[in-house]
Amino acid sequence: MSQRVYIFDTTLRDGEQVPGCQLSTDEKVIVAKELELLGVDIIEAGFPVSSPGDFRSIVEISKAVTESTICALSRAVKGDIDAAGESLKYAKRGRIHTGIGSSDIHIKNKFGSTREKILEQAVAAVKHAKTYVEDVEFYAEDAGRADLVFLAQLTEAVIKAGATVVNIPDTTGYCLPDEYGRKIAYIYEHVSNVHQATISIHCHNDLGLATANSLAGIMNGARQVEVTVNGIGERAGNTSLEEVVMALKVKKELGFYTNVNSTRLFPVSNLVAEMMNMPVQANKAIVGRNAFAHSSGIHQDGFLKHSENYEIMNPQDVGVDKSSILLTARSGRHALKHRLELLGYRYDKPTLDGIYSRFLDMADIRKEVNDKDLMELVR
Ligand code: KIV
Ligand code: ZN
Repeated sequence: MSQRVYIFDTTLRDGEQVPGCQLSTDEKVIVAKELELLGVDIIEAGFPVSSPGDFRSIVEISKAVTESTICALSRAVKGDIDAAGESLKYAKRGRIHTGIGSSDIHIKNKFGSTREKILEQAVAAVKHAKTYVEDVEFYAEDAGRADLVFLAQLTEAVIKAGATVVNIPDTTGYCLPDEYGRKIAYIYEHVSNVHQATISIHCHNDLGLATANSLAGIMNGARQVEVTVNGIGERAGNTSLEEVVMALKVKKELGFYTNVNSTRLFPVSNLVAEMMNMPVQANKAIVGRNAFAHSSGIHQDGFLKHSENYEIMNPQDVGVDKSSILLTARSGRHALKHRLELLGYRYDKPTLDGIYSRFLDMADIRKEVNDKDLMELVR
């Protein structure tokens, strides 16, 4: 039996924190509606105490979105929690996401506090958030560098205080997959009330490991994963939604599924890239321009014989029309013949050989030969 992994999207909060990515309330509502259509379970809509505009956006998203849970972020501070609670008053299903630093680095350098005081503040925050909503998520910031025994104590205490979800963030993107997976496993082994809550993972990409770490978290028991579209987010970004969703879909044998309609991944990626003014790198997994483009002769030949030779998913599964064969100086005869046939030209072998040698001369100069160049060549 496959197990469900809940998708918590923080494009509009962690993603929107990136300089240059700020959106107006109307734009945020558009993105939130698309996320709802995509099948995201929880939309983190913002950090309401941070500005009146962010507060307003959460109110409007709460009115416009009815299928996904709407989540508002707060620090473990009364004023923040009050703002989060107020901002969610129209939400059909609202969640407050409150939390505080859990690593000694944060406890000492950021809060000038002690583990005991942090624990008390965390419990008080969860209890206060519960006066607004039933669904309260607690985040143990910088859990990636926190002491395991303290992290387990903190998790146990906030669940006892009423947290429905506990988020174990690798805030600084510090962990390796095995290390992060063991952290989640440790929590399952050492927190007596762990099954009364969902354990959530929230990874950053500072070492390029956010997706790998998130998958390790899922394989060790976490059932909610926090992600952003195109992996946008603080510094090197967050775990990319499309990568986790497709990894779980492609690797069926792992036994997990999500509610995401993967055929909407590419359109949503384009919308977010455009609205947030954050272009997607060409070689980005799943949604990059080259994710389904084949350019070397060996790959093109193999792909044309059978797409499975060089593709592990169908482009249509992620909302891309079709794969592409780029004609470059690395392309072989098979790719050239295929493209010419698509353009309506069929040649015998000696003629094709002649065209191919002129094609190579052109490709060396132009780098990529497009259909217009090709027509010019055959004429
Ligand atoms: O990275 C992080 O720790 C966060 C928390 C606010 C959840 O974004
Ligand atoms: Zn984060």
